[in-house]
Parts: sequence; structure tokens; C-alpha cells
Amino acid sequence: MERGILKINPNKKIFLKKIIIVYLALLFFSSCAKSSDQPFGIASRHHLATDIGMDILLKGGNAVDAAVAVSFALAVVNPSAGNIGGGGFMLIHLSEIDETIALDYRERAPIKSFEKMFLDQNEKVIKGLSLNSTLASGVPGTISGMFYASKKFGSMNIEKLISPSIEIARNGFNLSEFQAKNLNKYRGKFLNSVEAKQIFTKPNGFKEGDVLIQKNLANTLERISKNGEQEFYSGETAKKISEFFKENDGILSLEDLRQYKLRVLDPICKNYRTLKICSMPPPSSGGVALIQMLNILENTKINTLGHNSEKYLKLLVSAMDFAYHDRAKFLGDPDYYDVPEELLTSKEYAKKIFKKIQKGEKPPKIEVAISESEETTHFSIIDKWGNVVSNTYTLNTAYGSGIVPTGTGILMNNEMDDFSSKPGFPNAYGLVGSEANKIEPKKTPLSSMTPVIIFKQGRPFLVSGSPGGSTIITSVLQEVLNVLDFNMSLKESSSKSRIHFQHLPDILFHEELDKDVLASLIDNKKLVGRKLGEIHSILLKGDNIEAFSDKRRPDGKASTFQK
Ligand code: GLY
Repeated sequence: MERGILKINPNKKIFLKKIIIVYLALLFFSSCAKSSDQPFGIASRHHLATDIGMDILLKGGNAVDAAVAVSFALAVVNPSAGNIGGGGFMLIHLSEIDETIALDYRERAPIKSFEKMFLDQNEKVIKGLSLNSTLASGVPGTISGMFYASKKFGSMNIEKLISPSIEIARNGFNLSEFQAKNLNKYRGKFLNSVEAKQIFTKPNGFKEGDVLIQKNLANTLERISKNGEQEFYSGETAKKISEFFKENDGILSLEDLRQYKLRVLDPICKNYRTLKICSMPPPSSGGVALIQMLNILENTKINTLGHNSEKYLKLLVSAMDFAYHDRAKFLGDPDYYDVPEELLTSKEYAKKIFKKIQKGEKPPKIEVAISESEETTHFSIIDKWGNVVSNTYTLNTAYGSGIVPTGTGILMNNEMDDFSSKPGFPNAYGLVGSEANKIEPKKTPLSSMTPVIIFKQGRPFLVSGSPGGSTIITSVLQEVLNVLDFNMSLKESSSKSRIHFQHLPDILFHEELDKDVLASLIDNKKLVGRKLGEIHSILLKGDNIEAFSDKRRPDGKASTFQK
């Protein structure tokens, strides 16, 4: 499927797209009917979610079945980012017909939202309003995404996929040390919401092994399982959500939920050396920026520079600088802003940038705030037929807004903060947001989520993705380079230090690196050491499979099955 092939006229486009989706679904089912002995596996943020997904695969479910089950499970066992009150992106590769589609089930701005909704009378950003209030939530898309994927490409009844999660929500699960500490760390966030406080706080704080029970979430999931997605978008759950927002100064309405529409997009697929890389198109900046950086780096034999050497990292920093400059300037929801995607991902454009880098040139400094947060979660799945799901979804910051509409158990997202709250006006740091990503009704905020599927000789080779806000793209970039250019295993790749630079602010984030190398990278920048990304990947090499969950955060699990 060529990108742009459907850009004829809107009605014809929708009609053709529907035909293509039905055709793909039919072919997908016929491919799944044939048995195969390919190894399969899952890497996700939480061991219980991975186990649930593996159980589905072992019972004969396909990658999409497992993805739906993992997604619901993470909403229960990983409440900081797993969700039904948020949204995300899913890449689905259908192996037999060699087609990849991209589902955009990200949140949309409520109908009543407006450009200056987070500014006071003096046009100053009201601190916290886009993060910790009922105004912070976009219209959630996760339920729409999971039902769409399941209906079109799944082979199992969705009730079977949701039921393990209902059980865990009802009976509880043991918090890990990390989860207990994390809930305690964010305690303040839950105090503004009666129901969030009941579920996610404990008088003397949580400790490892405590059982987290989410009865209202279990009931909500049960209703969704029984009544379908309309339960969330127009049923009892929709009413509970919208009434809560109305009573608590929110603007997200029943009409917003009713009108939610997911988008089926063509992924961005481009060659990198001899491999094909597919990732998420706008409204994520992930695919465009990743491909732009790879195109720049393709102009040299990167593996001859020495991994994490001074030359290598300097080149990486420069490529990041140019890509994040363009990201800030040109990227937004393509339905509202004419994103020059073809230009930004073209080899010619990258060659010009590479020449500039060789001459020591830098992109002009544009003053754009990039403020995405660090949470989010990714999982990768390959089934025995070679079908693949690469899914990244989020509530935005940890536990989203920290608000749970009464009686639902659903943590709501604070994705409105991913818009530029104040385009054209300098903020406290002298930065201004970009026009492309300003708030408009029903618009999708710009994202950095970068689910990828990489193909070698037509076959899925590497499936990957990460949380980490604006650091997602550079984390995924370094995973791709480690595996593709330096021939590392996933385990080895994960053990290598990462860096992150995003044009502005002038800070080079880094993990542990040689002191001399670090000193050579300063060039007026501030250096800040911290952990970067949390990759969950699967690598398929011939008949061998490797799945790996980054150890930068605990609780993740990668499982494989190989005959
Ligand atoms: N909210 C983080 C992202 O979408 O990139």
C-alpha cells in the first residue's frame, strides 16, 4: 500500500479504504487458517500482561488477539500508563499478504476546546491546568482501537480477551516494589479525585506485595466486554464519564465520546540500507523523525565509527538536532496542518542535512517548547504465522490526570498537555509553541510515540518501541542502530548507554559514558545524566527469536516460544 494512494477525494478515500480493510481482513483470516511453526513471543512492561498474551498465543490466538488482551491487562496491572482512559498507536503487520497498517486511536481534543484554554487573562499559561484538571483530558481512543483491531483482525471473541483482566481487577494483584513506591511518589496527584484517592492511595503508603484491587474498573470492563465499545462511547460508562466532567468543570461531553473516530492510516515505510522500516505517521512525530535521522546517518558507514565513540555520538547529536528542529517546526495533526512528510523523510533532504553537518552547520534555533512527559508504555508481539503488532499507548504523564470519574475506576489521560498551550508566545523559558500543534476542537495532539516494525528481505526482523515522551524517538533510533548497524543482540543493545538531544533546550541527556567522550560533546550544552527509554523488542533472525524487556525499569517480561 503506497502512502498517499487514497488521497483522491474524501468520500472516495473513505470508500476505498473500507474496501481495502475488508480485503486485508479476509486475507489475514485465510493466512491464520494455515498452520505454521514460526517462533513467537511478546515483550511488555508487566509480567502478568505478557503471560496473558502468551496464553492467548499458545491457545492459537493471533498477534492481534494477544495485543488486545495485553492492552486490557496493562490497563489493570500497569495503571501508570496502561489504559482505557487514554489512547495510542498500533502497527499491525499481516504476514501472508505483506501489508502493514497503522491505527491511530489517540485522544482527540474535546469539541469545546480552544486555542487559549490553558491561558489566563494576561495570556500566561495557568500552571497545571493542562496536566492535573478535568480540562487536561482528550477524548480517549483505546477502547475504539482495541475493538477495531479485534473485529477486523482478531480471531477470538473479545470477551475471552478481556476476561483475564476483569479477574485481576476484581481480585487484585501484588504490587511490585517499584509499583508500590511509584504510587506513593504520585500520591498527591490522586488527592483531588475521590475515587482515585480510594483506589491508588493508602494511609501509610503502599509496600511491595500489597494487593491492588480495582472493583469499579472490573465492573466497567465487564460492561464493556458484554455491551461492546458503545458501552464506553454512548452507554452507562459514557454517561458516568461525561456527567463527572460536567459536574467538575470539564468540557469532555457525551457528544465528544459519541463522535470519537479512530483513523486507519498507512504507516510510513522507507528503506534504511537494505532493510524496510515502518513506523507511525503524523499525528505522531515518531516515524518522520526516526526516518529522517536514519536517512541522515545512512550517508556514512556508521558501524566504522565505533559504537558510542566521540565521532559516532557527535553525528548522532547533530542528526537529532536537525530532526527535532523540523519536528517542532513542521509536525502536527495532518488533518489540520499540511505536514511536509515526503520532504522530511526524503533521501535528498537528508543528504543536504548531512552535508551541512559535515561543514559544522547547525539548524537555526527555533524557540519551541517540547514538553511531552516520560510515561507511556510499549509492547511488541509476533505470532506463529509471522503476524506482528507493535503498540505504544499512554495516559501521557504517569497515571494521566490522576482523576477517576466516579464509579468507573478509569484513570483519565492528560493528553491535552501534548498540544502547544501557547503558540506564538514565549513562555517562562523564552520558548514558544508551534502553530502546527496548537489546540483546535477534535484535533489530535502531536505525539512522539514510535512503534516500529523492521523488515529484512520482506520478513519481520525487529519489532520495537519505548515510552519516554520526546526521548522515545532517540531511544528507538539507538536500538535500531545497535541491532542493524552493530549487529547486537537485544540484550546487548539494551546494555548500551543512550543519549538524547532535542534541539531545545540545549541539554544533552546521557546515560553512563566515557568522560572524555562526554566532554567532547558539551559544545555549550548542559549535560544531564539520567535513564533514557524502556525498550520492549522482539528480534527474529532466521528460525531464532529473541524478545527482550529493557531492565531500565523493573517488572517487564519478554517471553518466547520456539519448537
Ligand atoms: N504523551 C506522550 C506522547 O504521545 O509522545
